[in-house]
Amino acid sequence: MRLKINEIRVFAPATVSNIACGFDVMGFAIDMPGDELVLRVSERPGVRIVEITGDNGKLTKDPALNTAGKPILSIVKAHRIECGVEIEIHKKMPLGSGLGSSAASAVAAAFAMNMLFDLRLSPRELLPFAIEGEMIASGSLHADNVAPALYGGFVLIRSYHPIDIIKLDVPENLHCTVIHPHIEISTKESRRLLPDQIPLSDAIRQWGNTATLVAGFFKSDFALIGRSLEDFVAEPVRSRLIPGFDRMKCAALDAGALGCSISGSGPSLFALSDSQAKADAIGQSMQIALNEFNLGSDLYISKINNQGPKVIYLK
Ligand code: HSE
Repeated sequence: MRLKINEIRVFAPATVSNIACGFDVMGFAIDMPGDELVLRVSERPGVRIVEITGDNGKLTKDPALNTAGKPILSIVKAHRIECGVEIEIHKKMPLGSGLGSSAASAVAAAFAMNMLFDLRLSPRELLPFAIEGEMIASGSLHADNVAPALYGGFVLIRSYHPIDIIKLDVPENLHCTVIHPHIEISTKESRRLLPDQIPLSDAIRQWGNTATLVAGFFKSDFALIGRSLEDFVAEPVRSRLIPGFDRMKCAALDAGALGCSISGSGPSLFALSDSQAKADAIGQSMQIALNEFNLGSDLYISKINNQGPKVIYLK
């Protein structure tokens, strides 16, 4: 294998998964925040995490137990890479935020390995490696953060066995407002709260909305998108973990959001809208609503990020 580069720095984006009605089967990437990762070829064999920043000391440097380390170890093994790899992980988004923090690191790792060693793997071929990293953090098989972080855009997961990913276009002026209240929710814990079974009547409403949300994106029908952003499965349970959830959701809808729900497993909330001006106003209203609960927050406003991971530099 001929090495063309010795070092690469990449970015992989945050993602909003579930999108209200599509628990574990849909998600989209946003422009900011995201994680950065540096990979360096080393003459000393083995995979080493040499630096982690932005994690408040919470992440392990053991590559086998780290969401970025694991995909790299697996790629090294699968492609019989003999030289060593040094990893720097720069977390640029909070852990346990519902914004796919672990997925961003896993995707950044798989994407960077592909570039650094010129492996020419497609997103479909990289996906299983990224999923392995995500599983370390969440303890469960779900790809609704890794797939949109890797493919960019809005992504559907038709099946997990075998994995079957469909990327769809979304209306050009669709905007997303994300508020991240400063509390941490572990995906592992919040998955345990969910019911094993749901009533058929809820399932009917849920899959109706899932289908019409996709139709709404397809037809650029913003009213239909708004009507479809309902969740009868996770939101009723998980919203209780988020101080001010009802107030923030009402504030978003009053400010013109098409719909609003929990981003992934929370505590972040997302709201969709049809213009930058509305997305800004929605964010302000949600922050004001949250202020009453004496919680700080971060606000992110972006269009749907169609690109997914990107190279920051190569050398
Ligand atoms: N679909 C997953 C969940 C996403 O809601 O548990 C976690 O970010």
